[in-house]
Amino acid sequence: MKVLLLITLVSLLLGIGALAGQFDIAEDEVRIVGGNATTIEQFPYIAQLRIDNQFECGACIISPKWVLTAGHCTNGYTELIENITLRVGATEFDQTANEAITLANLYIHPLYNETTQDYDISILLLNNNLVFGNKINSIALPPPNLVLPAGTLATVAGWGTLTYLGALPTQLQEVTVPIITNEECALRYNDTNTYISDRNLCAGYDQGGRDTCSGDSGGPLTANGVLYGVVSGGIGCADAKYPGTYTNVSSVRSFITSVTGL
Ligand code: ARG
Repeated sequence: MKVLLLITLVSLLLGIGALAGQFDIAEDEVRIVGGNATTIEQFPYIAQLRIDNQFECGACIISPKWVLTAGHCTNGYTELIENITLRVGATEFDQTANEAITLANLYIHPLYNETTQDYDISILLLNNNLVFGNKINSIALPPPNLVLPAGTLATVAGWGTLTYLGALPTQLQEVTVPIITNEECALRYNDTNTYISDRNLCAGYDQGGRDTCSGDSGGPLTANGVLYGVVSGGIGCADAKYPGTYTNVSSVRSFITSVTGL
């Protein structure tokens, strides 16, 4: 009887060990996907884009009155800008204390393509200038035609889901991912209808596990304090085969200058 009990106990312990091993991987995927909780002081240039009073996307503050987001986040709203608001300066997903920022104008890239998601960028002009401080600030823009070398580590932040089709976080999340070449990225996506163009950047680990996800769109991808990417797309989230795709800010730099003068 005692021996049997011992055997049961040992196998139970072994079983638990094996289970815990499995959960190591799952536990890694508890944020953005595979990232960490962070605060707005670390990302004072990130904003929440809300449409019809619901969280829709991330956005990037580039000056007191200009904000960037993904084209697909505002698609169809050119004549409905009163439906769009921004929330700035708060870490929490549900930041009801902060007053809604309203828009004076919306400029979706004229070449934005709904089908291919090429030129996935739009520019928002605010009604009132933001007051900068430790929770609200701008991020620097890159020069035009800059190619980020593969392997460059870039950081993304957002309030998107913590797993593919999973729950939203209560707090801002961040994750760091390496840039991969557009050539490699196009190869990874060649069995899908996702189109990788010169207006894209791609980032992700070969083994997956860390990525942006739904709701992170429009948010910032930065390296060394410069905004190189805006979260655009991807298949699934943190999938080993499919890296996250971003709008290459450098490649649409002349559009940004023509609209904002920046
Ligand atoms: N299009 C998505 C959004 O609306 C972003 C998806 C990012 N996906 C990914 N696998 N990196 O938020």
